[in-house]
Amino acid sequence: MTGLIPQNFIDDLLDRTDIVELIDGRISLRKTGRNYSAICPFHKEKTPSFSVSPDKQFYYCFGCGAGGNAIGFVMEFEHLDFRSAVEELARKSGLEVPQDSQPANPMLQQKQKSLYEHLDRARQYYQQQLREHPQRQSAVAYLKKRGLTGEMAKAFGIGFAPPGWNNLQKALVNSDTDQPQLIDAGLLIAKDGSEETYDRFRDRIIFPIRDSRGRTIAFGGRVLGNEKPKYLNSPETPVFHKSKELYGLYEARQASNRITRIIIVEGYMDVISLSQFGIHNAVATLGTATSKEHLIKLFRMVSEVVFCFDGDAAGRQAAERALENAVPCMEDGRQIRFMFLPEGEDPDSLVRNEGKQGFDEKINEAKSLPDFFFDRLLEQTDTTSLDGKARLSKLALKKMQPLPNGLLRQLMLEQLASLTSLSVSQLQNFSATQESHKREGNTGSYTQGAGQPSARPGHRKPSIRQQRVQSPVEQAIALLLHMPQLVKLIKDKQLGELDIPNGRLLLDLVQLLKSSPTLTTGGIIGHWQGVDDREGYQEIARLSAIELPINNEQHLAEKLKGVLELLIKQKQEQNLNQLLEKSALSELSTDEKRELAQLLNQNLKQMPK
Ligand code: GTP
Ligand code: MN
Repeated sequence: MTGLIPQNFIDDLLDRTDIVELIDGRISLRKTGRNYSAICPFHKEKTPSFSVSPDKQFYYCFGCGAGGNAIGFVMEFEHLDFRSAVEELARKSGLEVPQDSQPANPMLQQKQKSLYEHLDRARQYYQQQLREHPQRQSAVAYLKKRGLTGEMAKAFGIGFAPPGWNNLQKALVNSDTDQPQLIDAGLLIAKDGSEETYDRFRDRIIFPIRDSRGRTIAFGGRVLGNEKPKYLNSPETPVFHKSKELYGLYEARQASNRITRIIIVEGYMDVISLSQFGIHNAVATLGTATSKEHLIKLFRMVSEVVFCFDGDAAGRQAAERALENAVPCMEDGRQIRFMFLPEGEDPDSLVRNEGKQGFDEKINEAKSLPDFFFDRLLEQTDTTSLDGKARLSKLALKKMQPLPNGLLRQLMLEQLASLTSLSVSQLQNFSATQESHKREGNTGSYTQGAGQPSARPGHRKPSIRQQRVQSPVEQAIALLLHMPQLVKLIKDKQLGELDIPNGRLLLDLVQLLKSSPTLTTGGIIGHWQGVDDREGYQEIARLSAIELPINNEQHLAEKLKGVLELLIKQKQEQNLNQLLEKSALSELSTDEKRELAQLLNQNLKQMPK
């Protein structure tokens, strides 16, 4: 249904795009329960009714009804047509859109391409200097002193920026366009008010920073002695955003494609030393705290992240910040642990002193997130007194607010209950009054995003009671969008022709899911996108936004079975009424008579005695 771009490409593209990451780069998202919310970018409002679901990979505004998947967002936000939006996302994911198509933004695309090229030329240049420059000895001696093998230098593409102000410039500027591009790439710095430039990196060991595809996007440079600053990094450029990149991630994936755990350390040298000692799964942030974007990126690859901190006060402080960013990412099935090194050690020194085994032991001793969470709180409160317990509850609940609903949340509430001698339900009540926007529906009925405004523009913020009740067809669609694997409960042809509002949509959805049962909601929306079925697309987006109070598969399966029964009954009633009406006006055919008899019979059976 998407014109010329093959559907499997759209599926693949949506699979590789994280809608939270995409939208968060443009407007600021706040975690609220399982989802994220924000002030809607598509209409004027004061309180946030825009929500983004990481599980379903789609967004929806309860205020203006705007909604869709990642492609839809780019279309609306950037005012692009379908194809251009696909192309923009494809470029971000490093995919090539099949078929002869015009690039979305040829200028931008061309520019980025040449930035990558210049960065790669620079990487080659620095590496070559480490091998050939007359003054290379100082750099080689430094690396030797730090115990770095040639093999590691090669694996991490380590290079040398020789002393002097214009080495790189002389080597790489061959044409008029090279100079401005090298400035944009962060490699040359323009002197104020003149056309002259000088090299950013001089007399430093060079660490290329690569994106997850292995393209060089920036550099870090370390002095050989004690000069300041010790490290210099590339500035932010169109291809380098340091809060999103992790040093060593590409190399880690090169070393093994079956990583299940990532260790986050502080420095370049830590990553490289660990790798040299056989610990290939370490990455470093680039002088920033670990951000949510970092974690989102990592959790798309692995299920466990271990933070490694120095044992000093600064390390503790960094851990505190990391904890704050980690809590919202703790979906069930993900694990985050905190490891503290002995005072005065960093991973580089520790692994050199104690070897891989010593370091592995430390990893295994790392504290789980809940343990670290409560240990930190217990250090700050006195739980022998009543007011101490109250304080602990209050602090803990506040810090747990961004924690997604799920088993972990429940377990942590239980732990808090045992620490404070309160009951879980008391804590939950308390927590509910603290966080008004996190209310979840508590009935079995399908209400539209409990406590949220309705889907219709103009009808803002109805009370829960006013919310529109869904028809069985809509309930079935909502259930399938929420948990696509439930499609297995629907037998082929079971629903026949559904000549009721949205009946066609349900049948199409069932058919789609039968052939691709692993699509996310965002992926499903992808099938209604494009030119063909604008109405279907909008209905799917609207129904995707319905929040189901419970997430348990068995429970939802029961619901769906109930809804299917209702649907079939509704259909029979409809047929019955039609036949009765028709029989009043004209003679029925033999088949029709038979059907009528059958339906009447069933109807009688179903009548309450
Ligand atoms: P070595 O001394 O080479 O072992 O470095 P380290 O990684 O042990 O040093 P440190 O713990 O001081 O720094 C950790 C990380 O913080 C580095 O890898 C850099 O990313 C960053 N960093 C340290 N010093 C500076 C600096 O002066 N400027 C900037 N921009 N970043 C720094
Ligand atoms: Mn160090």
